[in-house]
Order: sequence, then structure tokens, then C-alpha cells
Amino acid sequence: MTVSADIPGGSPTDSAVAAALSVRGVTKTYGALVANDEVDLDVRPGEILALLGENGAGKSTLVKVLSGLVRADAGEVVVGGETLPPGDPEAARAAGVGVVHQHFMLVPDMTATENVALAQGSRAGRRFDSAGTRARLLELSERHGMPVRPDIPVELLPVGERQRIEILKCLLGDARVLLLDEPSAVLSPVEWERLAVVLEELAAQGLAVVLITHKLGEIAAVADRCTVMRGGKVVSTVRVGDTAPEELARMMVGRDVVLRTERPVVAAGPVVLEAAGLTLAGYRGDRDLGPVDLTVRGGEVLGVAGVEGNGQSELADLLAGVRAPTAGTVLVTAPGGGPGRTGVIAEDRQADGLALPLSVTDNLMMRVIGDEAFSRHGVLRKGRIRRHCSERVERFGVRTSGLETPVESLSGGNQQKIVLARELYGEPDLLVAAQPTRGLDVGAIEFVHAQINAHKTAGGATVLFSAELDEIFALSDRIAVMSGGRVVAVLDADDATRDRVGELMTAVNGAGEEVVA
Ligand SMILES: Nc1ncnc2c1ncn2[C@@H]1O[C@H](COP(=O)(O)OP(=O)(O)O)[C@@H](O)[C@H]1O
Ligand SMILES: [Mg+2]
Repeated sequence: MTVSADIPGGSPTDSAVAAALSVRGVTKTYGALVANDEVDLDVRPGEILALLGENGAGKSTLVKVLSGLVRADAGEVVVGGETLPPGDPEAARAAGVGVVHQHFMLVPDMTATENVALAQGSRAGRRFDSAGTRARLLELSERHGMPVRPDIPVELLPVGERQRIEILKCLLGDARVLLLDEPSAVLSPVEWERLAVVLEELAAQGLAVVLITHKLGEIAAVADRCTVMRGGKVVSTVRVGDTAPEELARMMVGRDVVLRTERPVVAAGPVVLEAAGLTLAGYRGDRDLGPVDLTVRGGEVLGVAGVEGNGQSELADLLAGVRAPTAGTVLVTAPGGGPGRTGVIAEDRQADGLALPLSVTDNLMMRVIGDEAFSRHGVLRKGRIRRHCSERVERFGVRTSGLETPVESLSGGNQQKIVLARELYGEPDLLVAAQPTRGLDVGAIEFVHAQINAHKTAGGATVLFSAELDEIFALSDRIAVMSGGRVVAVLDADDATRDRVGELMTAVNGAGEEVVA
């Protein structure tokens, strides 16, 4: 089969070029959930096609179908004119489908050379040839400007280098289509810039590249066309040069997206959080955190800004009560005067915010399972638990195949919604939110911001830690700036400017310490 006409988003003159990869009617369900719903997609040799979609849209599922890791219920995948046998990773690789998965597939204690040789050697008729593989790996690494060390176990290498090994592994396997699943998620901005250059070069040499992302800026930077997915379906395929970012965002989310949140103004209530003399000895080598003094009232959001590594994570842990201070106190007071409750959005939701292998129900119940409402005389009240969890899932719009689904199979945005649904239950007096939108797409970010604003409007106090200055400015009433383990200033948001906050973040602090960048 040759796909040569009517490639969506293509101009009439492109139609003579056969697709390197074409997908027709791919459908994949998980229980009641339709992860891919009759997906069509084409990518031509020499182009970069962006596959854009929110968390949970079905992008990774499609990639797994294309690479043969997952067998679709229906549909076909055609590579270079040949229909691939479904659910056969070997055949996909042999046909020239190279994939860099969201979670890398390298063997951790093997070197780059061994990993690449393993992938080669597993192909029928090839011998395991380590010296030859090493030489070809280095040659390709040089040619494409992707430095890698061939002889070190990959688990000891930085994540950006492991990603380059994955790409080189595909190139050594003679990939003609290269699919990268959210490659920038693990990269610094500078590393992403370098990868973008490599992708453009590879496309210029005739490779078909599919860049999966939920970041609009990346698409504008490198992609020729963009296929947008939502809720498992392809919404549209457009030419990037002709499409405004707002339009892409609207197609991705399915409605107009509020790219800037309005900050509600709420009359400040009584003091909810009082932190006094908070100190943590040796938070970084011989450096101490603090002493930090902070006061936050009901109806108020205090944003904490700083360059990463200046004590924000540790301060968040102290306020959340997950770490004990060396000295000082954290007092949380309910409006009536008694001890208040704290909800926590953990910075690392996968390690600290959730128990990944456990179900949606288990994760939603872990803080309240002992409550009278849910268990009596040690017997779980299953009906109530089910109703509670259904209500939380519905209210927070969690996209899951069921309440018994392990949270590890949910997308990042849906995982974060589970955290919010649990931590905001029963209206805590204080919310400690650490990097609450890290790694989330625009729709999920908008949702998280709305929840924080709702908590504020209901009279709760919030301390928001964020590496995104935009987020700090969008939500905060006051802004505390951290540098070298101290709060060097607390500014009223109405008087604060980005320049001033940026200056304070990188300034040498009062104790005369250099600032950790
Ligand atoms: N193995 C699985 N079991 C059950 N549901 C799954 C599984 N893999 C993915 N899903 C669900 O399929 C939907 C699409 O997920 P995914 O393809 O990972 O989306 P994306 O990569 O666009 O974020 C999500 O709702 C996700 O929870
Ligand atoms: Mg994904």
C-alpha cells in the first residue's frame, strides 16, 4: 500500500511524497477506556511531525502500538509500504521504526555499547559484535554531534546522555522513522535546544521524525506539521506555520484555555501558619537552612521563589511536617483556634505523593481510611468508600479506566489530580504546594491553578513553592524569595516585578554566602 495523496495538513505539492509511516484506524481500549480511538496519522520522510496532546490523550499508547509493544484492537500500521504484523516489536524495528520511549528501555547495568549491541544482536541473522558496534556507535555519535561515553554502565550516566544513546541505538538499527515520546521532559532547556538541532539535521537527511509533546513552544520551534490528539482521537492535523499557538492549545484542550489565571482577591483571615526560627542543620553539606520566619493568613497565597537548590524543597518538607526541623516551630491553627490540618502536594508526586502500584481507591483513601466514616470496629465500609472515591474522581475529573486501576498507569496530570482530590478533601486549613504543575500540560496546569484559587477563596492558607516565576506571579499575594537557605525578602505581589525577584534570587544573601546556581 502506498499512501501518496490527501495527507492532512500537507499542501497539494507534497502529495506526491509517499508516507514513511502511516497509521489507519488504530483503536486500543483498556477496559472501558478508549486510549486510542480510530487514530489516523501520516509522517513523510524528511519532516518533523509533532504529536500534540494533553496528558492522557493517548500519545504513548499510540507509540507503543507503532513499536509493537502493545497490540491494537483494530487498525493498521504501514511502514515503507508494508503493513506491520501487530504486536511484534522485532518486526517494527526491522521495518525501520525507532522509538525513544518516555521511560527509557536501556539495561541499566550495561554500557552504551552493550545496550546497542544487544538491540542489534537480537535481530535475526546478526552476530553479537561488540567491537564493531562500539566503533559504529562512536562514528554516529560524532557525525550527529551527540556525545556519549560507550564504556560506562548507563545507569551512571546523566539522563540526557542516556537519551542520546537511545537515539543512536535507533539510528544504528537503520531507523527510517524516529518517534520520541516527550523527550524534553527529562532535559534542561539547553539540552533541549541541542536535541532540536539534531532532530532538524536528521530530518534534513531524510528521516521521518515524530516529536511527541504537550509543549507548544517546542512545536513552533521545530515541527513542520502537527497532529493533535484529545481523548484518544485525532482532532486535527495542521501545518504549524499557519496555526497560532492559541489555536493549537484550543484543539488540544477542547475549549479556550486561560493561559493567564485571574488572581482572586480575598480578605485576609486569621493567621493559619506561623513558622518561627525554622532551622535545618546541614541541608546542603555544611550549609544550614534558615532561620526562617513566615506567617500566612487564611485566604492568602504566599509564593516562594528561588533558584533550585536554595532550600525551597527542604522548607516545603518542614512546613508539610514530613521532616523535623533542627530548631524552631511550625504552628498551624484552625479558624476556631484549635490545631489546623495541612494538605500537601509533594514535589515528587511519584515518590512521595502517591503509592504508584496501588489503586486509585487506595491512594484516595490513605489519609482517611481510619476515619469513622469509612471504617467501624475495624471493618471497612466498602459502599461508603466506593461512593467517596467515585465522587472525588468525578469532581476532580480524573481520567481512569476504574477505581481499581493502579495509579502508575495514569498520566501525570491524572496522577496529580488524585493527589489534589485526596489532599484538598475536607478543606485543610493550610495547603503546602510544592511544584504543583511540574511536568503537566496547559489544561492540567489550568485545573491545578483553579483548585489552588478555590482553596484560597474558601479561606484556606497556601504556601506555593514553584520554579516557574510565571506561576508564582499568577497565584501569589505575597512573594518570599529564597537564596542560600534563607528567605532574603518578602514582597507584596502588587509591588514585585520579575526583575526584582530575579535579582533577589541570584543576589549574594545577607550572610555573604555565594549563591548556589
Ligand atoms: N496499561 C494501561 N492500563 C490501563 N489504562 C492505561 C494503560 N496505559 C494507558 N492507559 C490509559 O490510557 C489513556 C492514554 O494514556 P497515554 O497513552 O499514556 O496518554 P499520553 O501519553 O497522551 O499522556 C490514559 O487515560 C491512561 O490512563
Ligand atoms: Mg505519554
